[in-house]
Amino acid sequence: MKTVLVTGGLGYIGAHTAVVLLERGYNVVLVDNLDNTRAEVLDGIEAIAGTRPRWDNVDLSDPAAVEAWWPTLPPVDGIVHFAAHKAVGESVAHPLKYYRNNLMSQALLLERVAQKPEMAFLFSSSCTVYGQAEHLPIAEGSPILPAESPYGNTKQIGEEMLQDAARAYGFSAIALRYFNPIGAHPSARIGELPLGVPQNLVPFVTQTAAGIRPALSVFGNDYPTRDGTAIRDYIHVVDLAEAHAVALERLLNRTSEEPVEVFNLGTGTGSTVLEVIQSFERSTGATLPWNFAPRRPGDVVAAYADTAKAERVLGWKTKRTLDEAMADAWRWQQHVLNSTSSI
Ligand code: WQD
Repeated sequence: MKTVLVTGGLGYIGAHTAVVLLERGYNVVLVDNLDNTRAEVLDGIEAIAGTRPRWDNVDLSDPAAVEAWWPTLPPVDGIVHFAAHKAVGESVAHPLKYYRNNLMSQALLLERVAQKPEMAFLFSSSCTVYGQAEHLPIAEGSPILPAESPYGNTKQIGEEMLQDAARAYGFSAIALRYFNPIGAHPSARIGELPLGVPQNLVPFVTQTAAGIRPALSVFGNDYPTRDGTAIRDYIHVVDLAEAHAVALERLLNRTSEEPVEVFNLGTGTGSTVLEVIQSFERSTGATLPWNFAPRRPGDVVAAYADTAKAERVLGWKTKRTLDEAMADAWRWQQHVLNSTSSI
């Protein structure tokens, strides 16, 4: 049984990936300092997977803490590295919090990989590295434009750090550039858990439909798109989690063909904000109060993935639809609202 360390393993994508890895028979160890999640997520993972993985609460950006913790782990065959701060707006206000946390934690983990180069390393990157791409759909070879935020810059620097370390220390890694992860596990036991006012569209939609927020503001209706609202590639989080298991197997089977392989993970289809609202109302029967508001600074007009490389090399593509993601997100919202533990 191979051991996989999932950093940020109680987070949104981390928890969904932990479930898939447990279901595929891995010995999963989670590490999460609860900076942006709740310990109760572990109960949800156990409820779905039927086993309760080990979870360590460690600040991965603290060298002394990592030094003391690492020897307590079983031999690690692979690391799936999610742990990072990820709020674009917050990163503009507090850039050093982002550079310190996101880059130091990655560097400390890569030092362990350098000591055991057969260890697989999966890096959680983002389509944000492309900025406003000139050509759509966006392929992996699309130019990396200057980052629009310190958060996006930590992803760009993180990929460069990965490239340099993989070449210098002789290990193989994969960087996965997510488009817009949405939805929740169909069991409604785990899902997106934004603490405070949601920054992302779909949790704001579900909280508005649940009456927690008065109305959704649609940021901008004058974009050069089919209905004036911005376009994104919304990928179901379970599809995303399954892609991680496929990429990990590729590394563990030593079939990767270059020190760092990069894959875009999206559906290949763009949806406007209004189409997301229509999908939500169609698939849930709920009514969503919304109104137009000014554009949000830093938003790109359109971004959606060219999925050819992931299909060709990983043999992976998305299976779930936008409507399914909306229904799963709504079911999760209702579960969180109705559950006794106020996670
Ligand atoms: C989607 C669309 C908004 C909220 C960001 C990060 C990216 C990744 C995902 C971490 C945009 C519109 C949103 C609202 C709205 N994060 N919107 N009203 O900005 O594409 O991507 O989150 O990895 O790196 O950049 O996602 O969900 O914030 O916005 O109209 O209340 O919804 O303008 O067009 P985004 P988002």
